[in-house]
Amino acid sequence: MSTPLPYPEHLRVRVEEYLREIDFLPIAPNERDEADGTQGLVEAMRYSLLAGGKRFRPVLALATVEALGEDPGRLLPAAAALELIHTYSLIHDDLPAMDDDDLRRGKPTCHKAFGEDAAILAGDALFAEAVRLVCEAQTGGPAVQIGILSQISRATGVGGMVGGQFLDLRDAGLQSDESLRRVHLLKTGRLIGACVECALVLAPPAPKIAATYRAFAHELGLLFQIVDDILDETGSEDLLGKPIGADARMGKATYVSVHGLARARDLAAERHHHAHALLDQIPGATDDLASLADHVAQRQN
Ligand code: IPE
Ligand code: IPE
Ligand code: MG
Ligand code: MG
Ligand code: MG
Repeated sequence: MSTPLPYPEHLRVRVEEYLREIDFLPIAPNERDEADGTQGLVEAMRYSLLAGGKRFRPVLALATVEALGEDPGRLLPAAAALELIHTYSLIHDDLPAMDDDDLRRGKPTCHKAFGEDAAILAGDALFAEAVRLVCEAQTGGPAVQIGILSQISRATGVGGMVGGQFLDLRDAGLQSDESLRRVHLLKTGRLIGACVECALVLAPPAPKIAATYRAFAHELGLLFQIVDDILDETGSEDLLGKPIGADARMGKATYVSVHGLARARDLAAERHHHAHALLDQIPGATDDLASLADHVAQRQN
C-alpha cells in the first residue's frame, strides 16, 4: 500500500472545539436553578468526553459531507452527537459489570474517577444530550433532524451498538467466525455506519452512489474492530490509552482468538483494500475518507 494520507486534522479540530463548547445545562434560567446540584454529573460527562480520543466517528461524518460536496460545518451538531453516544458506550463498556477496565483515553475510567453510580448516569445523560443536540442545534429542518435521529437510534439500539454489546458479553465463549462477525458489525460497525448515514440524510446523492458509501462504511466498521482486536494483543498501553490484553483476560472471542494474529492482519488488509476500491467508485473529494481508511488500518492508538 502507498504512503498513508495524513489524518484530517482540520476536521478533528472543528469537532474538538464544538465538543468543548457544548453546554449540558438546561437553557431556560429557571430550569438551570432546578438542575442545581447536577454539576458533579456534568463534570463526569465532560471528563470522559474531553479526555482526547481520535474523534474518528464525527470526523468520518464530516469527511463524508465534504465528499458529497457540502460544507462539513452543517453536520457538526449531529457529528458531535455521534461522539457523545460513542463516549457513553465507552463509559459503560468499562464498567465492572462489562469489561471492567481502569484506563480509558489515558486516564482513569469514569467509574474509577467518579464512582459507578455517576458513571452509569453520565453515560445515560450523554445519550439523552446527543438527542437534544440534534433536535436543538442541527439545521436542515424537521425531515433532516428526524432522518438523523432515526439513523442514530437505529445504530445504537437492539440492532446496533447496545445489541452488539449484549452479544459481546453473552457470546464471549463462542469462537465461531459467524458470531464474531455479527458482534463486530453490531457493536462497532453500526455506529460507524450511522456517521455516513447522517451525512447521506443531509446531502443525499443518487441511490447508486449512496449504496457505495454504505458499502464503504461497512468495510470501515469491520476493519475498525478487527484492528481494535489486534491492538488489544500487540498494541502499547501508552499509545492506546487503554489496557491491553483485556480481551484475553475476559475470554472474549476476537479476530485474534478466532483466526490467529497473522490471519487477522490479512483480513484487516482485505477490508482496507475493499474500502479503497469502493472509494474509487465515488465521485467528489474523497481524500479525507481515504486517509481515514488508511488511519484505521495503520493506527497505533
Ligand atoms: C474504541 O473506540 C471502542 C471501539 C469501538 C473499538 P475508539 O478507538 O474510537 O476510541 P477513542 O474514541 O479514540 O478513545
Ligand atoms: C467496545 O468494544 C465497543 C463499544 C461499543 C464500546 P471493546 O470492548 O473492544 O472496546 P475497547 O477495546 O474497550 O475500547
Ligand atoms: Mg467491550
Ligand atoms: Mg472494552
Ligand atoms: Mg477492544
